[in-house]
Amino acid sequence: MIYGVISDVHSNHEALSAVLGCLEDIGVEGWICCGDLVGYGPDPDACLDRIRALENLSIICGNHDLAVLERMDLEWFNPSARAAVVWTRSNISGVNRAYLEGLTARLETAKFTLAHGTPRNPPEEYLLSPSQFRDNVPLVKTWPLFVGHSHMPLLFCYAPGDEEKIESRFLDDQEETLPRVESGAMAPVALNPGSVGQPRDQDSRASCGLYDSDKGTFRVLRVPYDIGAVQAKIRAAGLPEYLALRLAYGQ
Ligand SMILES: [Fe+2]
Repeated sequence: MIYGVISDVHSNHEALSAVLGCLEDIGVEGWICCGDLVGYGPDPDACLDRIRALENLSIICGNHDLAVLERMDLEWFNPSARAAVVWTRSNISGVNRAYLEGLTARLETAKFTLAHGTPRNPPEEYLLSPSQFRDNVPLVKTWPLFVGHSHMPLLFCYAPGDEEKIESRFLDDQEETLPRVESGAMAPVALNPGSVGQPRDQDSRASCGLYDSDKGTFRVLRVPYDIGAVQAKIRAAGLPEYLALRLAYGQ
């Protein structure tokens, strides 16, 4: 089965539309979403309406979603992120707020595991180092583990035949063949598709992933979208200027 993998949409409807269009053209049969649907951007309802309509969707929430629901302390956020959380609270419909309330920050299915940041601390910890990957491996029963939160397209796994060594790398648009154990099941591997709505790897294009569970492959895709249109909406909404500027730099 082929899955479209998205994360950190952050109320950026232009980026989400471009990504969904690209993945639908490829013919994905299911969807994985690693949270942070809202926050930062100007279109929480438009994004949530699109995401709620996806069929065969496995989805979790992220720290910004929890903050909008007042389930996470605003002290955790920098000033511009905090301002966007407060703005989103009064610019989201009751239906979409209720949808967010039904999501967890971690989800284990029969085929894969989702955690916004890490399995041990889903809303807060950024999975960025090999030692963090090693510490989280015992908490996962079903691989791959899909994460978001860092807004970086990343892969972590054990080096082939050597569990003392961990490989980690940024993902470009090369297809990755994922490791398997002897039984044929997936070996421990964590995959971050990067951010749809606010990439932070100096590439301003929207980022998403394509997971083929039969072939055991994962590929990151980068999709251009109309950044200027989103910047205009951010300014019209009165959101912090920094949130508009950073989209152009992929930061
Ligand atoms: Fe995020």
